[in-house]
Amino acid sequence: MKTTTILALATVAAAAPAPAPVPYVQWLADSFIKRGVVRDFHYTTAVIHKGIEAAIELTGTKSYSTWYKNQVDAVVRPDGSIVNWNASWYSIDDQRFGNNVLYWYERTGEAKYKTAATTIRRKFDTYPRTPLGGFYHRNPIYTGQMWLDGIYMGHTFYSKYVSLFEPNNKTAWEDIVHQFDLIESRTRNKTTGLLVHGYDEDLSAVWADPKTGAAPNVWSRAVGWYFMALLEVLEIYPKDLPGYARLLGYYTSLAAALQKAQHPSGGYYLIMNEPYTSDKRNYLESSATSQFTWSFLRGIRLGLLPSKYKTTALKGWEIIKNKYIKKNADGTLNWEGTVEVGSLNSNGTFEVSIPYLRGYYVLTVHVVLHLSPSCLQRLQRRWTSYLDSLRD
Ligand SMILES: *[C@@H]1O[C@H](CO)[C@@H](O)[C@H](O)[C@H]1NC(C)=O
Ligand SMILES: *[C@@H]1O[C@H](CO)[C@@H](O)[C@H](O)[C@H]1NC(C)=O
Ligand SMILES: *[C@@H]1O[C@H](CO)[C@@H](O)[C@H](O)[C@H]1NC(C)=O
Ligand SMILES: *[C@@H]1O[C@H](CO)[C@@H](O)[C@H](O)[C@H]1NC(C)=O
Repeated sequence: MKTTTILALATVAAAAPAPAPVPYVQWLADSFIKRGVVRDFHYTTAVIHKGIEAAIELTGTKSYSTWYKNQVDAVVRPDGSIVNWNASWYSIDDQRFGNNVLYWYERTGEAKYKTAATTIRRKFDTYPRTPLGGFYHRNPIYTGQMWLDGIYMGHTFYSKYVSLFEPNNKTAWEDIVHQFDLIESRTRNKTTGLLVHGYDEDLSAVWADPKTGAAPNVWSRAVGWYFMALLEVLEIYPKDLPGYARLLGYYTSLAAALQKAQHPSGGYYLIMNEPYTSDKRNYLESSATSQFTWSFLRGIRLGLLPSKYKTTALKGWEIIKNKYIKKNADGTLNWEGTVEVGSLNSNGTFEVSIPYLRGYYVLTVHVVLHLSPSCLQRLQRRWTSYLDSLRD
């Protein structure tokens, strides 16, 4: 078998040396840079930048670093103040930008990045909370509410900052895991192991369950943010604190639930709960598929998940590669099969969650195209033999 393969390769090479394919990570980074990425601290920008970080790490392309630093420097002034930052506006989404700032702090040591990151971190000190201590998703619009998305946007940064500057601040580490505990206790379905989009501790939202405040539906992209957040936080959370084991339990039990929920094609439904899994208007949604796949692959590599998940992870990657990544006429990469936005700002029903975003709305691609495909590519390149062994 081996010899045959080598011979076949040798024949191909002798006949017509094919140009090396552009790695997805490079293609993706080039596509974003060509289209232009807005310079602000919005979370959609922040997650694109996280993808660019992966591209820099993998390819070492100097022009990506230069471009990226300029992006962040357009928002962080030389004195460390943040353009358009409003100290009395509380939205957990805005905290995610702190991760980009810390990326540059770790690489340059420049004081302005620490100053900016500290401004973002200190917001947690005054941030409005529910009676049980959960940070509001946003104030005043989502008073009393916690959403799974917010866990990714806020608590990955909270953890990263504390790991760098307050590693012995037990209060902070416990505060972080408390956010996970709260949302777990109100949104996890004990039967399916999946979590609904969020909950309202005030019980006043139209969609809130009268007893728990839980939202009605399991929205896959929110679960995707959460599955990624657990992993990002587990990577830095102190192993000797009791919160670590709880986080690990949340992560591994969600992995088991997702494996069960995966469609045979490798994708995952936009709305993952009954009765909608058999509703014709529901569809397999690409951004959630990539979030899950990223977290599965990385979790396996870090040894946090057993290798029994390799099939699940690779099936996800196959559908991403074969169905969701498309080439535009101008040569840039496009991303298909995704939902534009899912919010609990209305009645939270299935009907308001289903609008399907077609690939030709290129501009909105940035809403959902986060780091996953580039990181997958990075994994593929760096651990080719590892992935090959998983295939067997
Ligand atoms: C800052 O946020 C507060 C609270 O939402 C708001 O009242 C105020 O208008 C905002 N300021 C600016 C300059 O946007
Ligand atoms: C430790 O974390 C808590 C909770 O975030 C915060 O109130 C406190 O100021 C932090 N302590 C230090 C020394 O930063
Ligand atoms: C949990 O999921 C099961 C199976 O879909 C469903 O029957 C049950 O009602 C759900 N529980 C809650 C609290 O929503
Ligand atoms: C929720 O809102 C949507 C869109 O406005 C509407 O079509 C649907 O009937 C509403 N459902 C409920 C249960 O109120």
